[in-house]
Amino acid sequence: MQNRSDAKGQGCAKRVEIIRQGRIELPHPPPEGGALSTELLAREMNYTTTRIQSKGEAPMSNQWIRDITLAPSGKEKIDWVWHNMPVLKQIAADLEKDKPFAGRSILLCLHLEAKSACLGLAIQAGGAQVTMVASNPLSTQDDVCAAMAEAGLTVFARHGVNPEEYADSHRMALNAAVPDVYVDDGGDITALLHREYSPSLPKVIGGCEETTTGIQRLNAMAKDGALHIPVYAVNNARMKFLFDNRYGTGQSVWEAIMSATNLSVAGKTVVVAGYGWCGKGVALRAKGLGAQVIVTEIDPVNALEAWMDGFQVMTMEQAAPLGDYFITVTGVSDVINGKHMARMKDGALLANAGHFDVEISKPDLAASRSGPVRVKPGVDQYVGKDGKRLYLMGEGRLVNLACGFGHPAEVMDSSFAVQALTLLHLIRHQGALTNAVLPVPEEIDVRIAEIKLASAGLSIDCLTTEQEKYKESWII
Ligand SMILES: NC(=O)c1ccc[n+]([C@@H]2O[C@H](COP(=O)([O-])OP(=O)(O)OC[C@H]3O[C@@H](n4cnc5c(N)ncnc54)[C@H](O)[C@@H]3O)[C@@H](O)[C@H]2O)c1
Repeated sequence: MQNRSDAKGQGCAKRVEIIRQGRIELPHPPPEGGALSTELLAREMNYTTTRIQSKGEAPMSNQWIRDITLAPSGKEKIDWVWHNMPVLKQIAADLEKDKPFAGRSILLCLHLEAKSACLGLAIQAGGAQVTMVASNPLSTQDDVCAAMAEAGLTVFARHGVNPEEYADSHRMALNAAVPDVYVDDGGDITALLHREYSPSLPKVIGGCEETTTGIQRLNAMAKDGALHIPVYAVNNARMKFLFDNRYGTGQSVWEAIMSATNLSVAGKTVVVAGYGWCGKGVALRAKGLGAQVIVTEIDPVNALEAWMDGFQVMTMEQAAPLGDYFITVTGVSDVINGKHMARMKDGALLANAGHFDVEISKPDLAASRSGPVRVKPGVDQYVGKDGKRLYLMGEGRLVNLACGFGHPAEVMDSSFAVQALTLLHLIRHQGALTNAVLPVPEEIDVRIAEIKLASAGLSIDCLTTEQEKYKESWII
């Protein structure tokens, strides 16, 4: 008979099986609870270098980037983050071996900085023709775009373009190739495909959406009967929102504000609008930095959660005269309007971390104030008739990307691993999926968590057979 403590239950066996028999086979399955093999890590460490060094692969005429000579600086950034993305590296190694994307055209619309480049290169390793476009003109890094172009990705993006050029860059990409599958961040590509490229929609197998706001738009399309392809809600996968939205936004928002302003957070009053997954992270980190934190909400449950977590809760009108820093992270427009601004202190600093630059009303800020005057990179000053100064960061766009480096590499490792495996899932299930907003299959979350734990050298317990029986029984 098996020793009671050694008898591992079905759940554990299933978890190990998911790793071993995943939809892409892992050539070196990580030992249960152990680290990745050194042989595989060594092979992976060379991965980016090899890709980026293969000059001349890119059809340079088919690129719309600022300056190809910036590539060496972009490559340095990519190499740095690549070595901190163990899950994506493992997936890239598997994709490189199996080439499941061979002959496929894949479009990635993301914040074009080093972590996104790593996803592009991983997908390219799987055999795809990869096109990269920006999901925000201010977060685009021209040197990273140059490095991606040099590595053979097709890139249509330049930092700081105007809204028309931004929309045109997406059209350039879709004119060059309508994708088989795509990743979107905010819903712009899904909307453009349906509005202007609908005759080509039957070619599109489906998409993946990265962020909360994009899913909000997809749900609105589905409700109107206007969504004609399957799109996976990657944002809603546990391995995405629990880490990316909460810890990624929490850290990178403060990193960006602190480095752009060189001001203290300790001792200040911080007002966080929205206590969703991002807002929880922003408030938690502000508290950790020594700030007094006020939360504003419209959802009674989330408001109570903020209160029980130890934060003050009030309306924006009440918070307006109290705050030194205001961070919006709601996915909703005009959260801070002219009425609130009129009540703010001299020197109050306004930053948005929600997807679109609509959460702080820029028209209201400009009305009856002089400015903007750029007083520091990423910081614009507006002065009212009473001499009161308000500061807007990153032109009201996602502050952590417009004024900083975005999420930590280890966090994007999980988010982009979900994207890579969901793209693969779409290809493998071509024609069998409903035209709807779909949840990412649970086994993708579990598999990524297992690889992440293994790469960190962490082990977890498994249910014994007895424990499984206990859980399933109603007689205690
Ligand atoms: N900066 C980043 O890197 C980053 C990362 C992930 C998501 N996002 C974006 O951040 C935004 C929020 O994402 P999330 O995942 O936290 O969403 P969420 O749905 O979990 O949370 C949003 C919260 O805002 C609250 N809210 C809505 N309107 C409000 C208002 N007028 N005043 C106060 N609170 C209000 C909602 O009740 C909810 O609790 C989205 O636009 C998302 O796309 C940004």
